[in-house]
Amino acid sequence: ISEQPNAIGEDADIVANTVSSEQIASEVARRRTFGIISHPDAGKTTLTEKLLLFSGAIQLAGTVKGRKSGRHATSDWMDIEKQRGISVASSVMQFEYRDHVVNLLDTPGHQDFSEDTYRVLTAVDSALMVIDAAKGVETQTIKLLNVCRMRNTPIITLMNKMDRETRDPLELLDELESVLKIQCAPVTWPIGMGKTFRGVYHLLRDEILLFAAGNDKADQDFEVIKGIDNPRLDEMFPREIEQLRMEVELVHGASHPFDQEAFLAGVQTPVFFGSAINNFGIREILNALIDWAQPPGARDATVRTVQPKEAAFTGFVFKIQANMDPAHRDRIAFLRVCSGHFQRGMKIKHLRLNREIKVSSVVTFMASSREQVEEAYAGDIIGLPNHGNMQIGDSFSEGELLQFTGIPYFAPDFFRSVRIRNPLKIKQLHKGLQQLGEEGAIQVFKPVTSSDLVLGGVGVLQFEVVASRLLNEYGVDAVFEGTSISSARWITCDDKKILADFEKSSAGHNVAYDAAGNMAYLATSGVNLRLTQERWPQVVFHETREHA
Ligand code: G4P
Repeated sequence: ISEQPNAIGEDADIVANTVSSEQIASEVARRRTFGIISHPDAGKTTLTEKLLLFSGAIQLAGTVKGRKSGRHATSDWMDIEKQRGISVASSVMQFEYRDHVVNLLDTPGHQDFSEDTYRVLTAVDSALMVIDAAKGVETQTIKLLNVCRMRNTPIITLMNKMDRETRDPLELLDELESVLKIQCAPVTWPIGMGKTFRGVYHLLRDEILLFAAGNDKADQDFEVIKGIDNPRLDEMFPREIEQLRMEVELVHGASHPFDQEAFLAGVQTPVFFGSAINNFGIREILNALIDWAQPPGARDATVRTVQPKEAAFTGFVFKIQANMDPAHRDRIAFLRVCSGHFQRGMKIKHLRLNREIKVSSVVTFMASSREQVEEAYAGDIIGLPNHGNMQIGDSFSEGELLQFTGIPYFAPDFFRSVRIRNPLKIKQLHKGLQQLGEEGAIQVFKPVTSSDLVLGGVGVLQFEVVASRLLNEYGVDAVFEGTSISSARWITCDDKKILADFEKSSAGHNVAYDAAGNMAYLATSGVNLRLTQERWPQVVFHETREHA
């Protein structure tokens, strides 16, 4: 990528964008962009791997997760992550299935990285919720679902691990409805569980899919028996079949029939039962995604709504990640294309900096390697090599001034002050924290009354990651210490004079600026925050902020 502030028209090899509007429309229509939400250990990694098997993107199971095989997944980019066996960073995988282009955005499941996950979810059009059927709804499931709800993202549900002893399926649906407040429409229904798991009955197709364990092969075929009244079933499962017929009658009577409109509105979730590790029930989910989930839709860009089929390219950065691959020491800005056609070599405008850039090197992420992107359409994610001037929330276009909305930063709940062992490294510390702040790995505040920086995170694990990255990437040995800060709020006020008075008052001692230059108030306690808010009624204290 080369930054060329005044380069319009100077470059002979600028690529002309010559794709017809019909082609753009048909490319958009065949795209599906989704993320998986789940509590850690529910089976997200296993499912990701199986989904990729269907596409032929990877041949062997065990490629995504490097824990056992010793092979490193694209998302396993840091030692700390490998040690803990959690996915710290998200990555993106693209594959083709049934003549559709599927973009799967990986979302970190660990709660300490939920902020990153929230932002990844702003870039998807639908989500797949994986639930461990032995455990039911867990804390992280609830949080992530609430994030999806902010944008009414349609959700498909997989009740996973049916090859184990699980909870009663009806009870699971009940819990989903009451805890997550989402209507359930069972699409498949399990026959038995654990050692007696026989398969699933497809309620819409009146078919039974027979379970067989241990399928590592791509696109495994399972035997299908047509019709729940088929006498073959009585022969095969004399004990279970009556129970199934009874349950299915009950389910038909007591649950909601699948309604695509309600699904697309985020009000209803189709529910599938299966076993990711056995590759069972996974094809049904992929088919649901293709058949029912919507292609990329319109996006709010402040000045107007952008339609995905528009000819001109637009997009926004929802995530920045450093050193994804130790072989390439760089930072990648993940951009979701919102409209038009992206072609390698074209010029796009970085709107916040009002700068033209010629994009000659762009990457996408296949399961096992990065590849050069030649072109992309709405719904696709492209990785722009970033030399430090792109921030989360930045919008890009072919020139039109717009700003995509809804990419949030959340007020942190945990705070640390930073000290370094070697004072000569202060410059590197500031550079490192500035970059990590822009990347969204941590929030960095510079208090007006002190030279010590304050770090804020939504989880404490973030501090460990930052400490380790400061050491490895910037050569800074930093010590993090507790602070008296209990919460942070971004500050705005329509009246500039009041804002200046606020800064000069005693409350001004608690004012700090974040990495993007926004004013914030660092409160020492809940009481302190409340009193300050009461004293300054015209000043607005925000719990979230969008782009700079
Ligand atoms: P996560 O990414 O959501 O954290 O979950 P992951 O896929 O790593 O799965 C968590 C554990 O659950 C793994 O076992 C995995 O093998 C197992 N698992 C996933 N799907 C199924 C399933 O359908 N049935 C059964 N029985 N187990 C399933 P682990 O022993 O914790 O990890 P590993 O040592 O196998 O890597």
